[in-house]
Amino acid sequence: MLDNSLAVLPTETVYGLAANALSTNAVKKVYELKGRPRQNPLIVHVLDSTWADKIAVPNHLFHKLTDRFWPGPLTLILKSKAIIPKITSGGLNTVALRSPSCEPFRKCLEQTRLYLAAPSANLSNRISPTCVRHVISNFGAKTPPTFDGGAARYGIESTVLDISSKKIKLLRHGPIGLTEIEEFLNQPIFSHNLLVKEKLRAPGTSTIHYSPVSPLMVYKSFQDLQSSSDLSESVIILPHELLKIRGNTKNVIYLSENGNSQDISRNLFAAFHEADRKNSKEIKCCLLNPKDDLCHAINDRIKRAGTIID
Ligand code: TXA
Ligand code: MG
Repeated sequence: MLDNSLAVLPTETVYGLAANALSTNAVKKVYELKGRPRQNPLIVHVLDSTWADKIAVPNHLFHKLTDRFWPGPLTLILKSKAIIPKITSGGLNTVALRSPSCEPFRKCLEQTRLYLAAPSANLSNRISPTCVRHVISNFGAKTPPTFDGGAARYGIESTVLDISSKKIKLLRHGPIGLTEIEEFLNQPIFSHNLLVKEKLRAPGTSTIHYSPVSPLMVYKSFQDLQSSSDLSESVIILPHELLKIRGNTKNVIYLSENGNSQDISRNLFAAFHEADRKNSKEIKCCLLNPKDDLCHAINDRIKRAGTIID
């Protein structure tokens, strides 16, 4: 399995669509199935940091960060070696590496000894899957062999950190927070919102563009959401059960009991999927008060999924 074919594997962040990262043919199938623009590079999943030498140029920061955060939801970008096919790195001279902690994925790496490229197992421009049902709702009959690992633990994609040059850049907020990394490294990190760039970098996909959360209206605060019109005709996603919406009780989806950021992150994408299944006129939600780094990551995903209402 996986030499030239695809498989869907669970990770602790979201489900991944895995293929042999060193096989142009296999990786081509990933781009085709996802409808993903070719210039958007893939993350290569490895068992541990010793696998990096063959495909990348590890530096001291890589070893420091992997000792502390791997296996886990931290993707690191390094200068790549020629063995990485252009299609895997989107034509860049860097490569993204991550060592997932989820056991089924690790077993697969161990048994196949393959470097596995694995983007989130969803169609391009759609919400990442946090359980097998979401994967099947994306790919239908074309779903590759799938390992069911239950609901993903974090529920949002890994933090992406570019350490390929002197200036360390955070390209995607995720479960490992910016503050935690800055404190650990004792140096500032330049934060650069890849998600916005990704949105811009994915033009020309209008034929397959279907946002499952469309139209999603994102309000800057709960108060703004509450004073908006058409509340009774919308599905409303709220951060926690202590918030109550006037006159609408049946179409509310809560992301947590008491506002715990980990719970919200775990439930966010599943809530988007559930809201979509209700086929309502529109979906409304609000941004979180950014009380911790994970809230920044969650707000990033919410902004990306919808339209901000000013
Ligand atoms: O949690 C995750 O990271 C999941 C699981 C399956 O591991 N994977 C995932 O992959 O989210 P994907 O392809 O959906 O997102 C990878 C992100 C993309 O935004 C891509 O542009 C960026 O990482 N990326 C990959 N290689 C890069 C590189 N060499 N330079 C800059 N960005 C890169
Ligand atoms: Mg993705």
